[in-house]
Amino acid sequence: MVAAVRVHKVGGPEVLTYEDITVPAPGPGQIRVKQHACGINFTDVYFRKGMYPPPGGLPFIVGSEAAGDVVEVGPGVSEFKRGDRVAYVAGPGCYTEERVLPADRAVKLPANISYEQAAAMMLKGLTVEYLLRRTFRVEKGMTVLIHAAAGGIGLIFCQWANDLGANVIGTVGSKDKAELARVHGCHHTILYREEDFAARVKEITGGKLCHAVYDSIGKDTFPASLDCIRPLGMFVSFGSASGQIEAFNINLLQTKGSLFATRPTLNTYAAKREDLLAMADELFAVVGSGAVKIPVSRKYALRDAAQAHRDLESRATTGSSILIP
Ligand SMILES: NC(=O)c1ccc[n+]([C@@H]2O[C@H](COP(=O)([O-])OP(=O)(O)OC[C@H]3O[C@@H](n4cnc5c(N)ncnc54)[C@H](OP(=O)(O)O)[C@@H]3O)[C@@H](O)[C@H]2O)c1
Repeated sequence: MVAAVRVHKVGGPEVLTYEDITVPAPGPGQIRVKQHACGINFTDVYFRKGMYPPPGGLPFIVGSEAAGDVVEVGPGVSEFKRGDRVAYVAGPGCYTEERVLPADRAVKLPANISYEQAAAMMLKGLTVEYLLRRTFRVEKGMTVLIHAAAGGIGLIFCQWANDLGANVIGTVGSKDKAELARVHGCHHTILYREEDFAARVKEITGGKLCHAVYDSIGKDTFPASLDCIRPLGMFVSFGSASGQIEAFNINLLQTKGSLFATRPTLNTYAAKREDLLAMADELFAVVGSGAVKIPVSRKYALRDAAQAHRDLESRATTGSSILIP
């Protein structure tokens, strides 16, 4: 038996139940991993609340990213062996001391990246990779806006976009968060709980606006985010921390300047193994070179997962938080 955090009925943080579970032997194409650190993500909140249905139904183990050691390989697995250090995005199912997962979702962890760093960056860092390099390819001199710039995704995004030579504008919920975002490469910060962020973007860019806006807030920042985008620019809606954007008339994209809009997810971008490996290589390269640092702001014991969710949802956290099994 191993300890895990399961959800038996969806709801608030109190439904996260710390209990013992049995982990099966790995089947064909699977590996069993002893986990050393698990990432905490807003995605976990969506699953816990029932906004995303768990693929295997209830009960389910929360959590979508982790890092650890391979302890057993199933039939047909040749890429991994017992003792390999690995990290992965494979969810839900990560808030546990040990788990079984498809081998083709894991990547070998370079020696210069710790388990804790890996757990704090796989889902978030791979997401930033596709947002900046694939959904919209950010080039030197472009201007981009990222909401929640001091969050887990936000701090990685600011550093990476800065390293690419972009002019980075970030919205944040407090002055402390503004300072943190600036330290991590955000050139201009906007306190979007106090200021009209679209008006400030206009002012900062001298009316030229942004080539792309990356919006993970959803309901509260729509449609104002569209007013921050220059003609033919890109609206990337990649999350809904404040609730989902309601149905809207697509002609709005015409009136705002023939805009492009997309609602991407990492699952699609990393679905093919070769894409996952290429994205992980890029992420490990920017972290390895020091261009992107992975701030682990908070560490919680696995049994304290409910508190970790309360902190994340109350906007109390910055950077990445992890659970230690
Ligand atoms: N599509 C994908 O592939 C993908 C993958 C990973 C994550 N995501 C999305 O990326 C976003 C960031 O994820 P994360 O794990 O790094 O979280 P995070 O940014 O560390 O935390 C969420 C932040 O959103 C801001 N926020 C604004 N309104 C909020 C509200 N009503 N409730 C709670 N927070 C609010 C808060 O920052 P301020 O105080 O600064 O406002 C808060 O700290 C999430 O929306 C997540 O779903 C998408």
